[in-house]
Amino acid sequence: MKNYIQHDPWCIIEEGFRPKYNRISESLCSIGNGRFGQRANFEEFYSGDTLQGSYVAGVYYPDKTRVGWWKNGYPEYFAKVLNSTNWIGINVELDGEKLDLARCEIEQFQRVLNMKEGFLQRTLTAKTTGGKRFRLDSIRFCSIVDDKIGAIRYAITPLNFSGKIQFTPYLDADVENEDSNYEEKFWIPIEEKANNQSAFVTVETKKTAFQVCTGMSFDLFKNGEKQDLNSNTLQRDKYAECVVEVNAKDEDEVVLYKYAAIISSMNCEKDDLMQTCASSLKQAHEKGFDPLKEEQKKAWAAKWEESDIVIEGDVAAQQGIRFNIYHMNQTYTGEDERLNIGPKGFTGEKYGGSTYWDTEAYCLPFYLSTADQKVARNLLVYRYKHLQKAIENAEKLGFKDGAALYPMVTINGEECHNEWEITFEEIHRNGAIAFAIYNYIRYTGDKAYIGEYGLEVLLGIARFWAQRVHFSARKQQYVMHGVTGPNEYENNVNNNWYTNYIAIWCLKYALEAIQQVRSEDESRLNAIFDKIKFYEHTETNRWKDIIDKMFYPVDEELGIFLQQDGFMDKEQILVSDLPEEDRPLNQKWSWDRILRSCFIKQADVLQGFYFFEDHFDEASHRRNFEFYEPRTVHESSLSPCVHAILAAKLGMEEKAYEMYLRTSRLDLDDYNNDTEDGLHITSMAGTWMAVVQGFGGMRVKDGALYFNPMLPKGWTSFSFRIRFRGAILSVKVDKNGTTIDNHSDIQVPVYINEESIL
Ligand code: BGC
Repeated sequence: MKNYIQHDPWCIIEEGFRPKYNRISESLCSIGNGRFGQRANFEEFYSGDTLQGSYVAGVYYPDKTRVGWWKNGYPEYFAKVLNSTNWIGINVELDGEKLDLARCEIEQFQRVLNMKEGFLQRTLTAKTTGGKRFRLDSIRFCSIVDDKIGAIRYAITPLNFSGKIQFTPYLDADVENEDSNYEEKFWIPIEEKANNQSAFVTVETKKTAFQVCTGMSFDLFKNGEKQDLNSNTLQRDKYAECVVEVNAKDEDEVVLYKYAAIISSMNCEKDDLMQTCASSLKQAHEKGFDPLKEEQKKAWAAKWEESDIVIEGDVAAQQGIRFNIYHMNQTYTGEDERLNIGPKGFTGEKYGGSTYWDTEAYCLPFYLSTADQKVARNLLVYRYKHLQKAIENAEKLGFKDGAALYPMVTINGEECHNEWEITFEEIHRNGAIAFAIYNYIRYTGDKAYIGEYGLEVLLGIARFWAQRVHFSARKQQYVMHGVTGPNEYENNVNNNWYTNYIAIWCLKYALEAIQQVRSEDESRLNAIFDKIKFYEHTETNRWKDIIDKMFYPVDEELGIFLQQDGFMDKEQILVSDLPEEDRPLNQKWSWDRILRSCFIKQADVLQGFYFFEDHFDEASHRRNFEFYEPRTVHESSLSPCVHAILAAKLGMEEKAYEMYLRTSRLDLDDYNNDTEDGLHITSMAGTWMAVVQGFGGMRVKDGALYFNPMLPKGWTSFSFRIRFRGAILSVKVDKNGTTIDNHSDIQVPVYINEESIL
């Protein structure tokens, strides 16, 4: 755990440069706008340790996989979101001396992510090896108003010398992914252009043939006065630069404004890329840096108006929650149904930028409550569009007749994961995708979704479960063998309770969904049945038989559901018995030792209690929580938030708060020692859930909102806004109780502690 980020309600502040934490700060202070994103790398050349990262949403490369022993059914490739054209680059020479902070004596340094207004700022004073003192001030942002645009204000002030200040703004697509499997470069050159005041680089991905065109233009000012440009240009494959210089003396401030436009062939015909890029760039340039920054500020104010959570009395908690909300908002905007949310968003390469069950299980509630309904809907439509691929994916594993198995990891619907125990066995993901449909409709009331898109997905998923279980002659019950539950610290288990439970729930929900569409629009139902060749009588009779005769492992003596067959035969030790130096287990223990232990990576049985809490009474809830939480090491970032919500429901305030802090400051304090790889974007939505559903106790039942709030001890108050079925509500919890206001004309029933208040 690290503790070098200053506590502040609106900013992430790194005071003083720590080269060994540079990658961590680069992740923390990443900026983005849903269309592209950028790690907080320095603009100028830096020879120290850094992970360069500029990412363009949806643009990926199918990297050949590496596996030890190839198994039938493995995917051929792992899709990777690519490190793309570096648009921020500005090299600097101070009177002939190349600027490299790794070789400077740094006197003062501050890197700040301003979350309120959506920009990154760096200020520093330093001395070069040649003894030149200077000040550097830079500000940059990815516009959320025009998601093609990035802008930088980059200022140098000589402090003890006079001479030429030379800037080389450049575009560089000759970049690599650190995590490429075969040290291959993924981009091929298409076109480069450079002139006095602008440059363009177009490149294409190998194999997938996405094109990205990046343009830059710039202005140079000295002490507020615009300078004539006389650039020297250079172009080579995948690279273009312009070199400009100006004479400056002590205390003269020289500023380079750099504007960038980034457009991919996802959003524009290839033949029009350059022209569209140039006209967007021109528009941004003509508007100018300050107006662009001003509109950015306004747009972020609007986002905060909708999604902020205010915590009074605890700055660390306030900063933590805003940090999470900020990154969620800049990762996914819901405008493009082809896009989704990678576990690292635009902040690193790990996990390839692809989609996991994280989206449905963890991210959806945040967007449901803080954005227009279409944002959450688009997340569901993404899976609808991948249904055919999910059917093909199941076919590769031997399933048939339209059974659909959604991939564990995907970018275009095809499975990208290749560890048999996860790819083939961690099939509970299918359940989360069905649950998200239910969750969306429960929240929004948009029942039409079922007929339009939902039913087909539910039928494909139900068909899968019906084929995946088998009948045990000895038990005279259906069982499910060879699975991995959410707890990836044990594989190939039989009858994982969570998987069995969600599978049966999917069958029941699919049956309900059929009836719903039948009652609303029978012709639509018939059209779907025809399209997918659904033999209702035969198929649903089998589903009903499975529902009636499914086996669920329980331990009668303890009164708990068993994580899987035989779980109680394991040596039962608690996490509190583990020596501190053994943690995290995944870095300290052999995999074999982890698999044999009773330690649980993340909510498993308890994930079921989270999704289906109304199915169980409170006593059962408590028994299961008290049994499983002490055996859980929370080594997935997705774990603490679910535990925070369950603990809050059970009134276990201290545990809820401990879990909340862990989720909200996971990256800021680098709990898992891996922030340098990028941020845990998908678990950030879980942090929001921990406040709203945990401390706020918000639930939706039968079209009404219920709150059972709990104010953590150290907080004076907390408040948040939510959208619900067209209404906008604000909720404030303080020592005097809970206040809920409806800021719209739309009436919604609201209950606090089971009492009707609106
Ligand atoms: C977790 C999975 C999750 C994945 C991506 C893994 O560590 O165990 O549940 O889907 O990370 O966030």
